[in-house]
Order: sequence, then C-alpha cells, then structure tokens
Amino acid sequence: MLTFTGDPFHDGLDKTMVHWPDGIVVLADGRVTHVGPAEEIAKVLPAGSEIVDYGRDTLISAGFVDTHVHFPQMPMIASYGSQLLDWLNKYTFPAELKFADKEYARRVARVFLHENLRNGITTSCVYCTVHPQSVEALFEEAETLGLRLAAGKVLMDRNAPEALRDTPQQGYDQSHQLIATWHGRGRLLYAITPRYAGSSSPEQLDAAGALWKTHPECLMQTHIAESPQEVAWMKELFPQRKNYLDIYDHHGLCGPRAVFGHGIWLGESELARLHVCGGAIAHCPTSNFFLGSGAFNIGGATDPKRPVRVGLGTDIGAGTSFSILATLGEAYKSAQLNRQALSPGHAYYLATRGGARAMYLEDKVGSLAPGMEADLAVLDMRSTPLIDFRMGEARDFAEQLFIQMTLADDRAVQATYVAGKCVYKRPPRPSP
Ligand code: GUN
Ligand code: ZN
Repeated sequence: MLTFTGDPFHDGLDKTMVHWPDGIVVLADGRVTHVGPAEEIAKVLPAGSEIVDYGRDTLISAGFVDTHVHFPQMPMIASYGSQLLDWLNKYTFPAELKFADKEYARRVARVFLHENLRNGITTSCVYCTVHPQSVEALFEEAETLGLRLAAGKVLMDRNAPEALRDTPQQGYDQSHQLIATWHGRGRLLYAITPRYAGSSSPEQLDAAGALWKTHPECLMQTHIAESPQEVAWMKELFPQRKNYLDIYDHHGLCGPRAVFGHGIWLGESELARLHVCGGAIAHCPTSNFFLGSGAFNIGGATDPKRPVRVGLGTDIGAGTSFSILATLGEAYKSAQLNRQALSPGHAYYLATRGGARAMYLEDKVGSLAPGMEADLAVLDMRSTPLIDFRMGEARDFAEQLFIQMTLADDRAVQATYVAGKCVYKRPPRPSP
C-alpha cells in the first residue's frame, strides 16, 4: 500500500511517502476509516467487516487524479500530422461540433468515464465543449457513478468556427446557470473554462474573471504556454501584457483553484507569480510529445525556492493514453530531456496527492488516511509477462514502482473503488 502525507518535491520522500508492504484499508460510508500496517489494523477491524484480500504483488493507492482532460476529444485521439494550432483547427473543432447533440455527448461521456475507471482514475478536471448540454451529459453520468469530478463549459468567442463560439454574455450566463445546478451537488465541482487566450476576447476573459469572483469556490481551468508558436501569437494578440500569465492575471484569472494546462514555456517571473497566487500547472507529457510542444521542466516548476503546484494530465485527445502509469513513464522522459530524474515516488505523488493539491482537493482525495473519501486504485504489479519477468529482478519497492510506470498500462488496473464501492473489476484473463 502506498500513500503520501505531504509534498515530496518540497519536503523529500523520506518525510512524505508511506509504504506498507502488508496493509489494510478500511472503508465505511464512502470514506476511509482506518489505514495502516495489516497487523495493526487487523486488531481494530470493525466486527462484521467484509474482507477483500488482493494478495501479494498488488499495490493499493488512492485513485489517480487527472488534472487536465478533454472528454469530447476522445473520438479524435490519435489524429495524425499536426502541431497545436493546426491540430485545433483541423481535428479538434470539427470533433467538438458534434456535442451540440446531448445524446451523442452522453454516449461519449459514458465511454470516457468507463475508460477513466479502467485506468484507476477517480477524479478529473474536464473540459467539455461550448455547448452547455455537453456539461450536463458528463455531470449526469459522473453523478450516477458517484465520482468526485470537476468540469466546465468551454468559453470561446473568437478564432473558432461560428457554431462553436459563444459571446461574453452568453458564456457568462450559461456558466452561471451550470454552477447553480451542479457546483457542490454531491461530489461534483464546476470549473470555469475559458479555453485559452487565443479563443477568448479580452471582454470574454473579463466576464470569466467576474464570474470567478462571484464564485471563488469554483475551479478555473485554461491553457497556457503550450507551444512556441502559440506563445508568439499571444504576444501579438495582447501586446500590452507583460507575458502569457499576465493576460490571465490582468483579467482576474490567477489564483487558488486555477489549473493551467501545459505551461512548458513559462518564464521565471510567471512561475514566481504562480507560486504567489496559488495557481497550478497540469503537466501533460504524452500530449506535449505528441504535438511536439516541448518537454516540461518539472524540476524548474517545483523548485523549493518558489514551488508551483503541479498535477498530472492525460490531456486526451492531444494526449495519447488514458493510462496514468503510461503518462508517468512519459513524465520521466520529459524530465530526462531537462537533464533531471523524476523518481518513482515523486511520480506517484504527482498522479495522486499532487493532482489533488493542484485542484485544492487534498483534504478529500489523493491519499489514504482516515476521513478521506474512499477512492482507490488496485494495481496488479505483474500484469504482463515482461513485467512479471522484470519484477523478479527488482531489488526494492522503488524499482518495482519504476517498472510499473515504465512498462505498465491499463492492464495493471485490477480494481477501482469510488466512494467505497468497487466500480471496476478487471475481467479474468484467458489462461496462457
Ligand atoms: N489549447 C487550446 N485548446 C486546446 C486543446 O483542446 N488541447 C490542447 N492540447 N491545447 C489547447
Ligand atoms: Zn488541453
């Protein structure tokens, strides 16, 4: 069993990572009531507890947190040959047009959420489309599953096809209405979602800032400094702003519960400002490599001198995998290209408590402790013949974790629990 009591980027793994080779986690009424070494917890196990024993070679952790993902882009994942701005026009916008149809949106939302559960993802921060019905469809399906999930309607009033554009007023009103219906309903949260400064006019960014000011308990999500071409274009669109972050800052979109996607090309002053304002970066390595955007420097962002909150994002459909393990493998390579090593402990932190902290949910999800919401991922540490073979050579737990993030994927997810209930169980595999 693996969990974190704090931030290893800031305080080191010794002080923050907890590993029980033989552990028990007790769940009741949707929460964790006890967790710790088996010999200790066995003594205080409430009478009549139903026991599930996952045996050896299993890792139980808090459910994974995906801090940046576009559910409407699932139907166009793996689209060939473009970089960011071209990719948006050629593939993304045509795919998003279909979400005017709520039943289509619902069908995609169902497959999307099932895919999350198959990958041990129990919390995510989701972009919908400009259509309010796309948000309704996702929230309705997430509510049925009891997920802790944040999502929002994309605000976009320029540089997109007419049918995908709203206006500052319409975007404000529709978001406001969705907040009234959904924010804080069960475990659901609303994220105010101006897509990025390229597709929102200054007037729309103002409206988004005003809306967030009246609902500061909501999250706010957008994209920032993803590709050099995009950064250069923002300089042209907003010549009066100091840098990319300053565009959002100027419109009141910089603060706690802000989640900025990518942030590869942020400068030192922007990172320093994020540290002060409490905004987070969603690190989306598979997407950054797929679109050729760049290699995010995680060591730079989390520098203990002015640490910025960082979570992990799949960024489907520019991202290429729902697997958080596969995404961590790419995060490792992203660090390598910056001449750094991302330790497996730090990586699993990003995928769990780090993501929860980026979303200001670390008191609810992302770790195993009494009182936390009972969302769990149960991993089979020997999920393929190669992994099984390699695990036989592993010398310690850190190596075992590293093997998973380098070689494993959805096949490793044995079970997923949401609010104490098993909502996904890997089907039995055919015998070899
Ligand atoms: N920037 C603006 N919109 C998007 C999007 O949908 N995906 C990615 N990766 N970057 C964006
Ligand atoms: Zn994105």
